[in-house]
Amino acid sequence: MWFGIVVLLRLRLEAQPGFPDLDWHCHDVQVRRSSEDPEVEVFPCHKWIRTADGYIELRNEKACLKKKETLDILINHRERDLQHKQQFMRWGTFVEGGPHCVDMTSVTALGPNLSYIRQRPVYNVHYIKSLIERRTSWSSLQELETFFLFNGRENTVAKYVQAHWQEDAFFGYQCLNGCNPLCIRQIHNLPPNLSVTSEMVRPFLPEDSSLGQEMERGHVYLLDYEVLDQLPANTVNDKQTYLAAPLCLLHYSRQGELKPIAIQLQQAPGPQNPVFLPSDAAPDWLLAKMWVRNSDFQVHQLLTHFLRTHLLGEVCCTATLRQLPEIHPLHQLLMPHIRSTLQINIQARVTLLATKGVFDKSIACGLEAIPLLLARGTQRLRYSSMCVPDDVRVRGLDALPICYYAQDALRVWDALHRFVAGWIRLYYCNDEDVQHDCELQNWIGEIFTEGFLGLSHIGAPHSFQTAVEMCKFVTMVIFSCSALHAAVNFSQLDYNIWIPNSPAAMSRPPSQTKGSVSEEDVFSFLPEVNSSCHVLSVLSLLSQPAIDFVPLCHYNEWYFSSGAIVKLVEEVRRELKMLAKDIADRNSQLELPYPYLSPDCIENSVTI
Ligand SMILES: *[C@@H]1O[C@H](CO)[C@@H](O)[C@H](O)[C@H]1NC(C)=O
Ligand SMILES: *[C@@H]1O[C@H](CO)[C@@H](O)[C@H](O)[C@H]1NC(C)=O
Ligand SMILES: *[C@@H]1O[C@H](CO)[C@@H](O)[C@H](O)[C@H]1NC(C)=O
Ligand SMILES: *[C@@H]1O[C@H](CO)[C@@H](O)[C@H](O)[C@H]1NC(C)=O
Ligand SMILES: [Fe+2]
Repeated sequence: MWFGIVVLLRLRLEAQPGFPDLDWHCHDVQVRRSSEDPEVEVFPCHKWIRTADGYIELRNEKACLKKKETLDILINHRERDLQHKQQFMRWGTFVEGGPHCVDMTSVTALGPNLSYIRQRPVYNVHYIKSLIERRTSWSSLQELETFFLFNGRENTVAKYVQAHWQEDAFFGYQCLNGCNPLCIRQIHNLPPNLSVTSEMVRPFLPEDSSLGQEMERGHVYLLDYEVLDQLPANTVNDKQTYLAAPLCLLHYSRQGELKPIAIQLQQAPGPQNPVFLPSDAAPDWLLAKMWVRNSDFQVHQLLTHFLRTHLLGEVCCTATLRQLPEIHPLHQLLMPHIRSTLQINIQARVTLLATKGVFDKSIACGLEAIPLLLARGTQRLRYSSMCVPDDVRVRGLDALPICYYAQDALRVWDALHRFVAGWIRLYYCNDEDVQHDCELQNWIGEIFTEGFLGLSHIGAPHSFQTAVEMCKFVTMVIFSCSALHAAVNFSQLDYNIWIPNSPAAMSRPPSQTKGSVSEEDVFSFLPEVNSSCHVLSVLSLLSQPAIDFVPLCHYNEWYFSSGAIVKLVEEVRRELKMLAKDIADRNSQLELPYPYLSPDCIENSVTI
């Protein structure tokens, strides 16, 4: 019997009396025209189905754009797919003024199609836990060192941090290659609120030069934590903690080192806001640097890590589910990189970021400050800073041979960009194809309004006119969810185990005069024993490598396994492998290696 071409297949799970009503996972459905016909048509499914779902419909094509559809029934199917998703996936608000997120408060609501199980090895946080009752300050440097011996002695980077944390050159190194390389930027003029004079910093510059000349040459850099200004600091263990909003000036020396040369702890200049200098008494200068590191901890965790990778990934994932049907090629390309953000972010919102979570109990930016900081951080987002080549150029990182983050990020970006460009060419012949793909335009429009809140000053696209624009944006999404997440996540434990290097909270207010602290006093600014340990135990748990780690550009999805896409995937993986080798070679020559952007260490998506 001839029954035409099969284009859509309906499938339904029926409860049978006597059998428990369970979800079933359907891999695919295979159709043969007759029992003799050797040819099998495969309708991939890869989903969990429930009796309650009624019919679900499967197609046998790989991917196609809406305007290439020839049958009405298939156009209808695309539309029904989206209607269904839009009912199920709605936008919600996590904080006013921050990117919108998925309107779900439990992983159960997400259902098995979109959740995953992260297998983790068991990790011993026993020693840290034993201190969780100790509500006292660290009594001495020695006590911190003993604690570190139990905790950090197997971590070679952490040991390096402990040995060098007081050195100015290492402070500068961390701004470039530590866990938050996104803050530092080159400046050609002093910011108006930094009351540094040329005279003040002359001793720290080359003898034959001046601040003005050094700025002109591009040797002066700035860290500005203005985003923290006047934020309400948390109470930890019933005690007030404090936040600063420092400005820190750094100089790139002729010896090839980047060193801080001036630190002002608060934004508004004045007699109670001195500029600390390397020539000040050692405890003053060390404490000023610790304030900068404390500010960096907040910005790293909430803006660099959570906002720039986790929340951005969630915005793109939600928009993808709502606006791109599963048959859309971009849905297929992006999902492996973004799917997991929904679950991990829902979990983060109900644990880490909730009442009695680690931010509430132990970190200076607690539940009062987080919404304000995320809203300010959203206002300060710039599309150029999300796109590596622009970011590296704007911040003048290309001028610093010691910025391994920038070098590696550029190469990962380039490899991904070539991959995405090749992939776009498979589906879009020209810019008109891009302009006329209404699903794609709705997708980027929704990201612009829900993610970037329609703020045009951010500079993110709200539509795509060209394939080039689309390629840049898609590369940015993949980069942020994979490489950037790796750069800011992998490194955090390494740089944070030695507590004075990255205090999560400060127990005393920022100094308003010079000469007011002694060497012993410095440690009294650190958070109490049990709250420091709380932060570390969470970081340690978050830092467990997944057993089912999927490296960058390794795809398990069926649609990556045949056709022209296979060649593209092979190419990008070959390129990434070469890069991993180059990075390994370079690292073997370095005193402190920079491994975080080596492609074999980059996970394909944000899973933790
Ligand atoms: C999985 O996805 C299919 C197709 O979108 C949907 O019909 C089904 O309800 C989902 N399953 C669950 C358990 O959410
Ligand atoms: C800069 O300093 C002025 C006072 O001189 C102050 O009013 C302003 O708020 C400061 N800017 C910021 C961002 O804090
Ligand atoms: C996060 O960092 C830790 C190391 O600190 C690593 O073991 C883990 O795999 C990383 N996760 C991701 C998703 O990169
Ligand atoms: C520290 O210990 C005190 C009691 O010993 C407890 O009330 C407090 O919750 C603990 N803090 C943290 C952050 O675990
Ligand atoms: Fe993360």
